[in-house]
Order: sequence, then C-alpha cells, then structure tokens
Amino acid sequence: MDGVTVINHPLVQHKLTFMRRKETSTAGFRRLLREISTLLCYEVTRDLELTVETIETPMEEMEAPVLEGKKLVFASILRAGNGLLEGMLDLVPSARVSHIGVYRDHETLQPVEYYFKAPESLSERLVIVVDPMLATGNSSIAAVDKLKERGAKNLRFVCLLAAPEGLKHFREAHPDVPIYTASIDSHLNEQGYIVPGLGDAGDRMYGTK
Ligand code: URA
Repeated sequence: MDGVTVINHPLVQHKLTFMRRKETSTAGFRRLLREISTLLCYEVTRDLELTVETIETPMEEMEAPVLEGKKLVFASILRAGNGLLEGMLDLVPSARVSHIGVYRDHETLQPVEYYFKAPESLSERLVIVVDPMLATGNSSIAAVDKLKERGAKNLRFVCLLAAPEGLKHFREAHPDVPIYTASIDSHLNEQGYIVPGLGDAGDRMYGTK
C-alpha cells in the first residue's frame, strides 16, 4: 500500500514472533518491545537530513555530519506507546517527547482523549507518533488530528502490527503521514483486536490481565 513501509528485517521478524507467543512473560514482552523499537527507530529515521559541522579529532580538523534541524519529537499514544518510546529514546536520547492520552471505549471502539502534552514549536520538528497496534485506526487518527491542530506538519507513524482496516482508515484520514510497521496482519475481530496479533499490547507490557 502506498505510504506504508513494512520493516521485514530478520531481527525484527524474529523478535516479533516471540512477542506474539502467548507464553511470553511480561518481562520478556517488555524487553523484546524495547529491543524491537530501536530497530524500528533505525528504519524510520533512515532518511533524516544531515548537515556538517567543524570538529577536531585527535588527529585533525574535519567537517563531520550531524543531524540537521530542531530536535525531533516522539509522540507516544498512552499507554502502550510508551513501550516503543523507550527503545527509541535509547537511540535518540535528545529527542523531545509528547504524551497523548487516548483510550478506546470498549463498546463504541471510539477514541476518548484524556491527556495531551507536547513540546514547543511542533511545526518546525519531525514528529514520530508511536503506538504498537494500529487496529481500527481511531486512536491514531485522533492523536494525529490533535498534533496537527497544535501545528505539527511533518509526521510519521510507527507501529508494530497493523490491521488492513486500520491502515486504510489512517491513510484516508492522513495521507500525508507515512506508516512504518513490522507486520500487516490478517484482520480485526469484532472486539477490534488484531488477528492473529499479539493480544492487548498494554496488558502484555504491564501484566494488567
Ligand atoms: N490494541 C491492542 O492492544 N491489541 C489489539 O489487537 C488491538 C488494539
């Protein structure tokens, strides 16, 4: 699908299989999510612009590459987004962070927003929105709506698993926001869970079920 990148690096796929297994422990699931998120971060930042600055090595002066522009922003959709956030911050420790509290009403499957905090000058930064599961797309669309309302113009969306229904819905709502995912699964079930999926990502990360 146009605007969708599936990250099929063997390490990503291997770790994802372990995350899907129902017998994987809470601690194991969290560790794998952190590891996999560094690999996803590597892919989503692959084409960032560089500039050069003059530095001195112990040998001589040189023009060396550094990232151009303002610090990027990771926008985590609470609560499961925080699992992706940690690994991303391991790779880009100086990034700014936005938290967006959106939960899914289990009956209507509609997003309910309860928290929003973001750094200044969103309009001048690349904003990478993270949520492990792109299911119906409702929460992700609402989060991106909110970020755009606050000025964000350059956004990317990273998830671990996506349902075809959610991808279509998200791309229709935000065709300017490219999506990066480790897998496109089969479908959504009636409760809005991704199948075969990995269950409820938040519950599996935090042992709440
Ligand atoms: N959120 C989850 O955590 N899992 C799903 O399968 C769908 C949405």
